Parts: sequence; C-alpha cells; structure tokens
Amino acid sequence: MTTTQKIRRLVLGNWKMHGSLAANGQLLAAIRSGWNQSSHAAACDVGVCVPFPYLAQAESALTDSDIAWGAQDLSVHDQGAYTGEVSGAMLAEFGCRYVLVGHSERRAMHGETSQLVAEKAKAALGAGLTPVVCVGETLAEREAGRTLAVIGEQLAPVLALGKEAVAALVLAYEPVWAIGTGKTASPEQAQEVHAAMRAAVAQAGCPGVRLLYGGSVKAANAASLFAMPDIDGGLIGGASLVAEEFLRIAEAGATTRSA
Ligand code: 13P
Repeated sequence: MTTTQKIRRLVLGNWKMHGSLAANGQLLAAIRSGWNQSSHAAACDVGVCVPFPYLAQAESALTDSDIAWGAQDLSVHDQGAYTGEVSGAMLAEFGCRYVLVGHSERRAMHGETSQLVAEKAKAALGAGLTPVVCVGETLAEREAGRTLAVIGEQLAPVLALGKEAVAALVLAYEPVWAIGTGKTASPEQAQEVHAAMRAAVAQAGCPGVRLLYGGSVKAANAASLFAMPDIDGGLIGGASLVAEEFLRIAEAGATTRSA
C-alpha cells in the first residue's frame, strides 16, 4: 500500500562509535557549510546521531543551522542508580532532536528486545525527542522467508504504544545483512518491506510516519532507493562520516521524486 500524501524526506547519519574532537570538528563544519550552501536545504530534513560525549560539540557546531543532531541510544529510565545510562532528559538538554532506538547492533550485542525498544521509544517521546526505531531481519531470517514476519514482530510493541506515539516517531528498516557489508538491499527488496511497514502504520492510523531505509546507502545508490514510493529517506552509517558523500545523499533526498 502506498500513500498519496507527500512525506518530507529525512536523511540521518549514524556515526556509530566513530570520531574524535578533531575529526568531528572538520566533518561538522563541512556538512554545515555544504548544506547551508545547497539550494536543496529546504527540501529535506538532515541530522547526525553522534556518540554521547560529542553531543555538546554537535550542539555548538550545528546550532542555528538546518542540520539537527541526536544520539544513538537512551535509557528507559528518567533518572536514578543506572550506572552508564543516559536519559532522554539529558539528551534534550543538549538540544537533541532525534535518538536511535533498537539499532540491530544494540539488539544483537546488548540483548535489546522489541519490548525494551518500544519502552525506549516511549521514554524518548516523553523527553520531547523523536525516536528513530530500527527494525530489520538477519540473513538467516530472510533466507527462511521470515522477513515480513520478523519486521511485524519487531514493530508490534511499538505500534501498541498507540496512535499519538506512532505519529510522532520515525521508523528505519535496516536489513542486518546490508549493514556495513557494502551489500545494499535492492530498491525493490527494500520497497517490499517498506510497503508492509506502511500498511502497518496506516492500520495504526498514522500513514504519514517517515520510513527510512538503512544499510550500505551511498551517494551512488541513494536516488534509486529514494525513488521507491514508501522510502522516505535514509539512515546512513559509513557514508555519513564522509562529508561529500553524506551531502550528496541528502541532496538525493531533496531532489529524488518517488515513483
Ligand atoms: P552502513 O551505512 O555503514 O551500512 O550502516 C547502516 C546503519 O547501520 C545505519 O544505522
């Protein structure tokens, strides 16, 4: 199912655990000035999700620009004896707009369940942040023909948060086998999953939720992905660390028309 309404695109960088004060300074300045000079800046939302220690640097480098910033995880708790955790309120204090939740690397390496991911999305909304909820199947699950079932299972607790919550979040489909592998889902493979996700959010009363694709997105393949009717932008890993690549992907987000 596709919507006829126009959905504003979003291109979001996920730096993962990369960076240093010196390297970030250059990258942030380059994307800020590049996007500022771009004639497309008004046509696509752009943001970067940086490691926690660099939030203050992102805030100072990107304030009063057209580029938002955010984090890659948050605690389900508001405050308390949770050593090593970071709350949504803390992220909000640093001007974050977005926070990733349920990235496959956290699901796989930190045992995050779909229920916990939904609770994190709720905590983010409670702090005034936009959660970007990531879902995606492994290669084994795809080969077993379970892709749509897995996505459905991962989405269920998030959709159960209710219409108001769902309307305020962003979903990202990131097939695990396409992350950091150079192996992008074909536009048609991605669209098939996005169409199912669109049907699910539409059934929850929120057809306009932004659905991002992530997994080896580069400047060279971004436009063909963004041309798909239910792909509303991208969640970019490796290519978001190279200013020129990231800016070209953002431009593709601004200029590519959906089929
Ligand atoms: P890559 O773009 O490096 O494949 O990473 C995708 C991703 O995990 C973004 O969250």
